Amino acid sequence: MYITNLVLRNFRNYDNQEFDFSENINIIHGDNGQGKTNILESLFLCACGRSHRTSRDDEMIKHGKGGYYVKLQNEKEVSSPELEIISNKRVKKIIRINGITVRKLGELMGNLRVVMFSPEDLMLIKEGPSERRRFIDVTLSQIKRSYFYELQQYMRILVQRNNLLKKISENKKLADTLCIWDEGLVESGIRIMKERSLFVKKLNSYAKKRHELITGKKEIINMEYSPSIKIKEEAGGQQLREYYKDKLKKNRDRELNAGTTLYGIQRDDLIISLNGSDIRQYGSQGQQRTAVLSLKLGEIDLFKSETSETPVLLLDDVMSELDRHRKGYLMDNLDDIQTFITTTDKEVFKEIKGIKVEYKEIKNGVLVKGP
Ligand SMILES: Nc1ncnc2c1ncn2[C@@H]1O[C@H](COP(=O)(O)OP(=O)(O)OP(=O)(O)O)[C@@H](O)[C@H]1O
Ligand SMILES: [Mg+2]
Repeated sequence: MYITNLVLRNFRNYDNQEFDFSENINIIHGDNGQGKTNILESLFLCACGRSHRTSRDDEMIKHGKGGYYVKLQNEKEVSSPELEIISNKRVKKIIRINGITVRKLGELMGNLRVVMFSPEDLMLIKEGPSERRRFIDVTLSQIKRSYFYELQQYMRILVQRNNLLKKISENKKLADTLCIWDEGLVESGIRIMKERSLFVKKLNSYAKKRHELITGKKEIINMEYSPSIKIKEEAGGQQLREYYKDKLKKNRDRELNAGTTLYGIQRDDLIISLNGSDIRQYGSQGQQRTAVLSLKLGEIDLFKSETSETPVLLLDDVMSELDRHRKGYLMDNLDDIQTFITTTDKEVFKEIKGIKVEYKEIKNGVLVKGP
């Protein structure tokens, strides 16, 4: 798939700007703070329904304006969806696909699939588990719409259950109603755990291969799903269900004291190791960066195999952070995937031969017209 056209109105520092893109490599260049990342953010928004760097939608509205409008034309093998996202400070975000307003955000998923790679992705390794859960959720939701809906359902149950846990401290009688929420939490939680477990296994096998190629087999990367509800792999669904329910029952007082749900997929993690040691503790900066590169390339492989379509690759300012060898490897693997690269120094790409690239210069939220 490839994006042919994008329109941004009152989005970040853009007033009203239209772009036509090449189906190969698009290099978006310009000085710091001109609006390069904002373009990638709008593409991510059209794929995932949210920004990659903020959970606050109104941050993307141009200062002093009432709302933003983003329109994107995607070209796929079997269809060419036109996606529109209209955000207004006062009303809920509107999503249109081929001119028709859709009721659920989930319907957006799958119309455009992106893999984003930015310097902040190092947080995937350095920071706490929430970053890694978000990575799993964003990728899986793009692959499977049903996963996105399941996650929404689980989060709704979780919020209700947490509210109830807090209320019980004031009114003990309410404790009897907790089991109603437990049932839903366990069932939905198990479905998500299964999906996550399978996802990590598949991604691991792709990322492993990529990492071997990049490092010349010198380093072995391994990823493992680490669920909050741990049970032996061989155990069946029924055993997991019983174990999960039992865990909630046994820890009732702890949860009531905490006033929140202490067990479940909201506490899952992903353990990444390098040559057998935890990469977070022992990996050098460069090794961690390479691991993220392998992870992202593995993500592309996974998208291809699971959806039979090639996603769009968004590289936000990462080239300057990679050494010659890694940069070379990455560029050698971009021949069949539409890629957007932001950079302050377009000269960096002069040395890469044999790849067709198109340049776009951005100055203060405006596309500078070429000669
Ligand atoms: N809601 C908004 N309204 C108006 N301008 C905004 C808004 N949000 C961000 N900006 C402006 O957008 C610019 C930053 O854009 P962006 O992050 O795309 O820069 P960039 O070109 O990627 O820079 P860098 O090279 O430093 O990464 C800043 O000038 C910022 O003030
Ligand atoms: Mg930027």
